[in-house]
Amino acid sequence: ILIGRSDDKLQMVAKEIEKEFGQKTRTIRVDFTDGCSIYSTIAKELQDLEIGILVNNVGMTCTDHFAYFLEIPDTEQKITQIIECNILSVPQMTRLVLPGMVERGTGLIINISSEIGARPQPLLALYSATKVFVTYFSQCLHAEYKSKGITVQCVAPLMVSTNMTHNMKVNSLVKSASGFVREALNTVGFSSYTSGCLSHALQSAALSLLLPDWLRMSTFFIRKLRNLPRTEKFDSNV
Ligand SMILES: NC(=O)c1ccc[n+]([C@@H]2O[C@H](COP(=O)([O-])OP(=O)(O)OC[C@H]3O[C@@H](n4cnc5c(N)ncnc54)[C@H](OP(=O)(O)O)[C@@H]3O)[C@@H](O)[C@H]2O)c1
Repeated sequence: ILIGRSDDKLQMVAKEIEKEFGQKTRTIRVDFTDGCSIYSTIAKELQDLEIGILVNNVGMTCTDHFAYFLEIPDTEQKITQIIECNILSVPQMTRLVLPGMVERGTGLIINISSEIGARPQPLLALYSATKVFVTYFSQCLHAEYKSKGITVQCVAPLMVSTNMTHNMKVNSLVKSASGFVREALNTVGFSSYTSGCLSHALQSAALSLLLPDWLRMSTFFIRKLRNLPRTEKFDSNV
């Protein structure tokens, strides 16, 4: 079952899955910035289905560059949208599928957070704060439900080449989406919190040594980040 906001894209991906894997694929069209009302629509569509795996992947950023909080365009609207999309979707989707998983004594929930959910990132304040929610919620839920046969995994990537990162060039630091997913899926069952791939795990360890909180939060560093040329601005740990 694919959930997304664009009918065309949903149909295209569903067809691709059906063709490549022979797997019947349903689609549900909702916009995760439309508030709480969408969850009754999703609940109706999921009725009578056994959901074994939930992947909470949906996410958005406020700007495509490092920006002070008050520089976010349409700040009032963006605050609500990012909270509804990045935060609200995770516990609401979990609420819909977890009861069935508990009843069957098995299930997997994969929540996509970010390296920025592990450490606060000035100039991406809202996004960073939404991701720490995902990280904490996932870790607490895993602790609560692992004894009932449910695995809740939190994936916290650094840079992956996708629309969000303007499909930036893949290199030893930036993973391709397919390469990242392949490596990340190999960690399911072994790790409830993961950077998702070896390159990102190494970068995460290096960053915590080379860029400690006191430096990353300093006015000096924020100014440096702010003055990066636009092309490099998103070369951070989205
Ligand atoms: N790329 C990175 O470097 C990176 C790093 C760390 C964490 N992440 C996280 O990874 C996850 C996937 O991001 P991505 O890099 O693949 O970004 P992306 O290319 O922008 O994809 C985000 C997905 O979410 C969907 N989406 C966004 N807003 C939506 C809304 N309001 N309603 C319904 N669907 C919506 C998009 O649909 P449309 O195609 O219709 O836009 C798209 O399928 C996100 O949670 C992101 O925060 C990404």
